[in-house]
Amino acid sequence: MHLVGLQAENFRNFSTVQLSFAKHTNLITGSNGSGKSNLIELIYYALFSRSFKTSEDMNLLHWKESYLRTQIEFQRDGVDKTVVVSFNSNKEKKVLLNNIPEKFSVLFRESSVIVFSPSTSQLVKGLPSVRRKWLDRILVRVDREFTSILYSYQQTLRNRNALIKRKLIQKEDYDLYDLLTTNLVSLSSLIRKGRQDLIKMINAVISPTVSKMDLPMFSSIELKYYHSRMMEDPSLLAKEEIKRGGTLIGAHLDQIEIFHGDASVRDFSSEGEQKLISFCLKLCEFDLIQVKTKNSPVCLIDDLFSELDEDRAQLLFKYVSSVSQTIFTDLTGRLIEADKVIPLTREENTICLP
Ligand SMILES: Nc1ncnc2c1ncn2[C@@H]1O[C@H](COP(=O)(O)OP(=O)(O)O)[C@@H](O)[C@H]1O
Ligand SMILES: [Mg+2]
Repeated sequence: MHLVGLQAENFRNFSTVQLSFAKHTNLITGSNGSGKSNLIELIYYALFSRSFKTSEDMNLLHWKESYLRTQIEFQRDGVDKTVVVSFNSNKEKKVLLNNIPEKFSVLFRESSVIVFSPSTSQLVKGLPSVRRKWLDRILVRVDREFTSILYSYQQTLRNRNALIKRKLIQKEDYDLYDLLTTNLVSLSSLIRKGRQDLIKMINAVISPTVSKMDLPMFSSIELKYYHSRMMEDPSLLAKEEIKRGGTLIGAHLDQIEIFHGDASVRDFSSEGEQKLISFCLKLCEFDLIQVKTKNSPVCLIDDLFSELDEDRAQLLFKYVSSVSQTIFTDLTGRLIEADKVIPLTREENTICLP
């Protein structure tokens, strides 16, 4: 897949953006604060109608403006597609795929993108929810059935939490609670199966992936999956859940830990090693998505050279750009050549490039 063009109004520091992309390498360059990271976020938002940085679309509105609009054209398997997103300060959002209203979950399967950014290292350093979300988002892209299981799970969890907050007063509340518990447990086992199968695949590709970045010392990296606590005595569970005000069992509480030999990477590896391992895991995601969807994801790479040492950054860049369209940011642009350069200046909040 590759991106063709982008138009936007009032997204973060940009009042107007009008751009076309080169099919292979695109470099966004400019000093600190010129909008490089915003442009990467804008591309992602235009494709998926969501930011990977904030859950609040209001933050994306150009200061004091009342609306934003994005339009992106891309080509996948020789077919042209367009996504238009509009959002206003009344929090109304419209998303059109080829002029037809569409949901986020559909957009998420329509296009294929991998983001490498300073927040990539959260994959190792961050909370367990970051790793769960990472696995789930890979699964949503490669397994249609998983999407509906995850959706049912989230809905069941919401209903169960709401019921627990109402403190289960009547007999009917308990009947519904039992039903929701049964559903939650069976959906949890399907989610766990999906995640554990994916972990097996990731563990199998780690070794070839780390060799692409010339990091043989990380070939024994391994992901492990831990179930949160299982069903206990149902009446005790209900009591404790009412006391704590929410669901205390299920796949949304499971943990994924990363090990290097016997040591947990989160607890024992250095900051620099954690970054490298996070980028290797993203590269595993890139390889898996490519194999499973038979399509090369577009790579959005923000600030690679400030995250990794120059040699590793060059290796990663060479590898992904040899198979995918890449859009990457760099302060000076001196380190890597690109087919197209998108220069940003601090003063200018309009980009218009053919
Ligand atoms: N909603 C917004 N409206 C206007 N400007 C914004 C908004 N959100 C962020 N900015 C500004 O955008 C500027 C560029 O940010 P960023 O893209 O992170 O720069 P770079 O990556 O080039 O260093 C920052 O100065 C920031 O204050
Ligand atoms: Mg930046």
